[in-house]
Amino acid sequence: MAKFFTELNDGLRQFIASQHVFFNASAPNEGRINLSPKGLDTFRILSDKQVAYLDLTGSENETAAHLAENGRLTLMFCSFEDKPLILRLYGKGRVVHPRDPQWQELRASFPTIPGERQIIVMDIESIMSTCGFAVPLYKYKGQRTLLPDWSSKMGEERLEEYRTQRNLQSIDGLPTYLNDAPPEPAS
Ligand SMILES: Cc1cc2nc3c(=O)[nH]c(=O)nc-3n(C[C@H](O)[C@H](O)[C@H](O)COP(=O)(O)O)c2cc1C
Repeated sequence: MAKFFTELNDGLRQFIASQHVFFNASAPNEGRINLSPKGLDTFRILSDKQVAYLDLTGSENETAAHLAENGRLTLMFCSFEDKPLILRLYGKGRVVHPRDPQWQELRASFPTIPGERQIIVMDIESIMSTCGFAVPLYKYKGQRTLLPDWSSKMGEERLEEYRTQRNLQSIDGLPTYLNDAPPEPAS
């Protein structure tokens, strides 16, 4: 049976803290829906109504483009261990870049991980927990270090070039505003 919540409570916070992976889903108004698996120590609960994750450099930048267009974001956690549970956080997301005034304070919540690109902040609108009875059992063996290793090897200068070549538009051609803020709306 699904249960709905309007904010996080201690039990939900503990469940999130014990997960090693989460999934983010976002979609443009028209075009391809993105769904990504995220690991490493990149997720933080900022309050009962707000969460954030440190987004790392990769070959695409889908979430940022979709959030700039419509802000819709769903995050999902699910248990792969004894006690099953799936938790979905629904809300509105926005991107905080190193150029933004909020960056320093938010960035301080995360460890240093090579390749940081931006921070995705989500205001929670609703939360749903469901049973997760069909999710398989897996044993956690550890986090892969391949992405931070790749970023370290690239170095910040090459990563910046890489992001400029690859991360300024979504796969549907929508702007991600990674390097420049969106234009002010005409008054
Ligand atoms: C070295 C490397 C590692 C990657 N690892 C991940 C990963 O762990 N999770 C992920 O969602 N995408 C990973 N990607 C793929 C893209 O970055 C992914 O398409 C992009 O992250 C999707 O957009 P999003 O980050 O806004 O969800 C990786 C790409 C590269 C080049």
